[in-house]
Order: sequence, then C-alpha cells, then structure tokens
Amino acid sequence: MDFEGIIEKASNLLMDSNFTIGLTGAGISAESGIPTFRGKNGLWSKFKVEELATPEAFNRNPKLVWKWYKWRMEIIFNARPNAGHYALVELERLGILKCIVTQNVDGLHHLAGNKCVIELHGNIRRGRCIKCNYKVIFNEPPENIPPKCPKCFNLLRPDVVWFGEAIPKNKLERAFNLFSKADLALVIGTSGIVQPAGYLPYIVKENGGLIIEINVEKSAITSIADIFIKDKASIALSKIVKYIKDKLTSKLYDASENEL
Ligand code: APR
Repeated sequence: MDFEGIIEKASNLLMDSNFTIGLTGAGISAESGIPTFRGKNGLWSKFKVEELATPEAFNRNPKLVWKWYKWRMEIIFNARPNAGHYALVELERLGILKCIVTQNVDGLHHLAGNKCVIELHGNIRRGRCIKCNYKVIFNEPPENIPPKCPKCFNLLRPDVVWFGEAIPKNKLERAFNLFSKADLALVIGTSGIVQPAGYLPYIVKENGGLIIEINVEKSAITSIADIFIKDKASIALSKIVKYIKDKLTSKLYDASENEL
C-alpha cells in the first residue's frame, strides 16, 4: 500500500473509532528542536543517564544535575509546538482524540492547546522542594543553580520522574484506565522501551483494539501496530487531519445537497 493509502486507512480507522487515546514520546517534539533520548544524536548517546537522571545522581551532585536540566530548559523554553502537536489539537477538537498520555516533560501539548494531557514523567517547567514538596513554576531557567525552595530554603529538584522513581499513582491509574477504555491507540514518536508507558498500547491490543504508530523508524511497539506510518510526526499527522477534515466536509456537503 502506498503512503497515501496508509494515511487514508489510518484516517478512516480514527474516524470510525469510539475512543482514541494518544501515547507520545520525544519524537513528536524532535521537529521543535528538542533532542530525543535514543537513536543517533540522542541524549543518552552523549550523556550518562545514571549521572544526570536518577535520585542518586541528584543526591551526589545536585549542581551537575541542575546544570544539565538548565541546558535542557534553555532548549525547551525556546521551543514551540510543531505541526504534529497542532494536528493532535485538531483531533481532540474533532472529538476523535480523547486524551494524550505523554512521556515528554516539555509541556508542548498543553502549549499547543490540547485539553486532556497526562504528563507521565512530569514537567521540566516545574520544580519541587526535596523537603517540603512546595512546587514552583519556572517561567525561565533558574538563574542560580541549584535553586532553593522559596518556603523552606532547601533544594528544589526538577518535577520530573527519574529512572528508579515511581510515576505518581493517580497519573498511572488515569493512564491505565484510559487505555483500558480505548478502542484505538495512536502511538507517536516513542521507542516504546521505557515502562510502564511502553506497555500501555498492549492493553488496547489485548482488549481487541487497534494500534496506529507514527515513527521515523521501527520501535518496540511496531510489532503490534495494525498500521505503521514511517514518517515524521508533523507530516503524517497533518496529512491525517487534512484527510479527515476533507472527508467530513464532503459528508456535510452531500447531506446538505440531499436536504435541498
Ligand atoms: N517523528 C516521529 N518519530 C520520531 C521523530 C519524528 N520527527 N524523530 C524521532 N522519532 C522517534 C525515534 O525513531 C524514536 O523511536 O522518536 C522516538 C524517540 O525515542 P526515545 O528517544 O527513546 O524517546 P522516548 O520513547 O520518549 O523515551 C521515553 O525515556 O529517557 C526516558 O524519560 C525519558 O520520557 C523519556 C523516556
């Protein structure tokens, strides 16, 4: 099947679905200039995760960890949502996409305008106190690092989930419930190897639902995908939304024609 045929098939499945849920990873933000983690040029090919994204690393050297997060914040604060993010806003507005579970901490789904977004791994624009749990919103990367809690003057940490840490229970329950209700999972820009996020599409599969994956290369999800669209998220999602809108418009036109 040619690319247009795959887009058409995916679009029709989305239009016929009752409850589509999105799972996104770093790939959807790659075209906003935010580096992904794996694959060529991925962050983990340049930095050691155990030195930067674990509670032990933070306890050992909070300044080094904050230096890395400040560097990432500088990239993310200058990044804007891309056509892929905005296409997901349209799918939500059309009533097709019910919610997005994202592994990204860049906040770009919110910024683009999606209403239902579960940030499984937290959000880099927030900090929290290691002592009193007070939360702060960073409107720009902190000037002095490591930043201190404005309430109790202990250290602030990035409000993200590090390797070896649990995802907040309420978020995980919401994500599992949504995927248990879904009859279609739209999986975009994730290698699918980090758990429990990588398991979520399997829930839909086990319940007899469908999986559409958009990625520039195969992932750990591809083997269970009913449709695999090998392309950049911005291109594939924009084509899907255009096809759906054109189809809905022609349906409306036909209906009005018949009424006359
Ligand atoms: N469009 C679609 N997919 C893309 C694009 C693009 N423009 N660019 C890259 N990709 C794909 C890559 O092929 C890869 O499969 O996005 C995926 C990114 O994978 P990872 O870098 O592993 O990111 P992710 O899956 O989000 O990682 C999950 O791992 O390190 C932790 O907490 C971190 O949330 C992150 C988690």
